[in-house]
Amino acid sequence: MSPKTFKIKSFGCQMNVYDGDRMAELLGERGMTAAADGEDADLVVLNTCHIREKAAEKAYSDVGRLRREDGSKPVIALAGCVAQAEGAEAKRRSPMIDVVVGPQAYHRLPELVAEAARGGRPVDTDMPAISKFDAMPPRRRSAPSAFLTVQEGCDKFCTYCVVPYTRGAEISRPWDDIVVEARQLVGGGAREIVLLGQNVNAWGEEGRGLAELIRALAKIDGLERIRYTTSHPADMSDSLIAAHGEVDKLMPYLHLPVQSGSDPILRAMNRSHSVDSYLRTIERVRAARPDIAISGDFIVGFPGESEEDFTATLNLVDAVGYASAYSFKYSARPGTPAAVMEGQIAREVMEERLRRLQDRIDANRIAFNQSTVGKDTQILIERKGRHQGQMIGRSPWLQSVHLETAAAPGAMLDVTVLSAGPNSLAGAEVQKAAA
Ligand code: 5AD
Ligand code: SF4
Repeated sequence: MSPKTFKIKSFGCQMNVYDGDRMAELLGERGMTAAADGEDADLVVLNTCHIREKAAEKAYSDVGRLRREDGSKPVIALAGCVAQAEGAEAKRRSPMIDVVVGPQAYHRLPELVAEAARGGRPVDTDMPAISKFDAMPPRRRSAPSAFLTVQEGCDKFCTYCVVPYTRGAEISRPWDDIVVEARQLVGGGAREIVLLGQNVNAWGEEGRGLAELIRALAKIDGLERIRYTTSHPADMSDSLIAAHGEVDKLMPYLHLPVQSGSDPILRAMNRSHSVDSYLRTIERVRAARPDIAISGDFIVGFPGESEEDFTATLNLVDAVGYASAYSFKYSARPGTPAAVMEGQIAREVMEERLRRLQDRIDANRIAFNQSTVGKDTQILIERKGRHQGQMIGRSPWLQSVHLETAAAPGAMLDVTVLSAGPNSLAGAEVQKAAA
């Protein structure tokens, strides 16, 4: 029997969240409905992440947990980067998997599920020349903040990273398609659009780059805010940096991963930037937009990382003053050059370094949040808070702001920041003086 209800579980990066939304819209268009919370679904799509070993292994334990108490199971589709990387091997590892579908092939999900309902176990990890986006229904409803994938894949080949293998070469979606989708999202309720790509600032078409795209999108009425992520330091063009100073709708926030604060490690990672060139880029961005919040990614325990290399990373964190940052223990990924490098670091050493790095990042984040206390700023209301009458919005610097208000999701509110915790701010609506 073909499934009638579905549930999609996305893991990993925001691009997977975007893909998950699009799969849901596609299944909805084909007459299926999303299962309610707590309800069993006929079809479960696990939209997986392959970036680190732990994330990849989680995919299989999640599959195992889908067996119900009575021994039955839903139709299971393995999607995302584990599906792309493992292909048919995934079916051998877990007999419970019915469909394997990669990130460039999910426009075929309804057909593949139908094939599974007929007893097949299809695998589709093609990267077809015709874009999956062309086969998708238009965007209809949107949350106040919406993701929009504009670029996929990576040509940088950092030596630790599986992305160039799982998501393929860098491709840019066409300008016109992006503008159409952005208009649909705004028509459906989006006030903010977050442009996504593995290397979003490498987006380009016929001499036009991300900066030109942002300037065009900023002309859409009803769109209040634009963000983009994730960027590579080597692709921070002059025009993109200038846009930060010139486009009001472009939010003062930049996620710019650096990975390490040591030049020898950056070289071994094949990062095509140095500590110094990274710092200079940040300086130029800050000159264009002085209040910009910087965020980053770090890997500790890359092969050969000495205590001295690691200390340099701690120093870089303080030199930049991050508003937030993500940090990870190095995970050796099969098929990547770093996996066979000499000087692999013991787990205990990585754990200890990760703790020290996270302490340093926490201190940076708390200092940043404190620095916004007392400021008047604008927030975009996104959702209800836990308490009666409480709503949660986002500041321009991507902080969560809790406040009491009657305003609904999608509203832009002027607020004063009253206090700061490590992970959020408390605010109050600015009272408009009587005219
Ligand atoms: N091990 C640990 N972290 C990794 N990342 C990418 N590959 C690995 C790996 N093999 C991190 C990087 C990247 C983020 C998305 O994940 O910091 O910026
Ligand atoms: Fe991976 Fe490096 Fe490409 Fe980022 S830039 S996706 S870390 S290879």
